[in-house]
This record gives sequence, C-alpha cells and structure tokens, in this order.
Amino acid sequence: MNTTPTCINHLGIAVPNLEAGLALWRDALGLPLERIVEMPDRGLRIAFLPCGPTTIELIAPLHDQSEVSKFLAERGGGLHHVCLQVDDIAAASDHAALHGLRMLGEGPKLGAEGYPVRFAHPKTTAGALVELLEKSSG
Ligand code: CO
Repeated sequence: MNTTPTCINHLGIAVPNLEAGLALWRDALGLPLERIVEMPDRGLRIAFLPCGPTTIELIAPLHDQSEVSKFLAERGGGLHHVCLQVDDIAAASDHAALHGLRMLGEGPKLGAEGYPVRFAHPKTTAGALVELLEKSSG
C-alpha cells in the first residue's frame, strides 16, 4: 500500500474573524474567495481561497468555545495545521501510528471539504498540527 501523500491539500490558518483574514489573504495577497462554509457543530466558519493545487483555509470561531478558540487565545492566530492529501487515510493513519504518531479519534471524520480527515496529536508531530485528508489523486 502506497501511503505517500500526494500533495498539500490545504493550509489551515486561524484568524480571529474572517473579515480580517479576508482583508489579508484576499484583498492584499490577491487570492480568490471560493466559498465560506459554516460548521456550527465545531463552532467554525471556514473561508476557502484556492491557490493552484492547494487551498488556504481561513478558520474563524463562531464563539469562544470553538475548536480554534484555545489556539487563538494562546497565539492570536497564524498557521494552524498542514493538511496532507492521501489516497487511503486508513493506511496512511496506520503507517503514521506505526512511526509513533498518535492519531486523534476513533477514525476519520468528514471534514469541511467533504472528504474524510483525521488529525494527529500535535505533541507527536513536534508542535505542528498535521491533518490527513483522503481524496483520490487518480
Ligand atoms: Co483542515
């Protein structure tokens, strides 16, 4: 089984609010805004700005109990996670786990992009949050 990631699917950037994030990434840096998705169950609003084969995802909180609130309180925003695209998330998760990564949750969940995703615990990735996303490269 080939567990080599095929590309960086997206970079997740935490922002205190989408307006400030869009002023930087869309208006100043020129990336197109593709769409905005609300995920109330995770307390998030996510803006998708494609850049070639990858996407910048701006992650903003809907309230102060959101999945990104602790990160924002500690760091004020910035690079939140790197998402590697893989063909087989189960195989890639098992492979990473064999090499000492702690994969979060019981298994993949459906991410904001509509594909199965799974995060690794940042304490096992030298401080960088890593997400795997399953999407066929073929
Ligand atoms: Co992500």
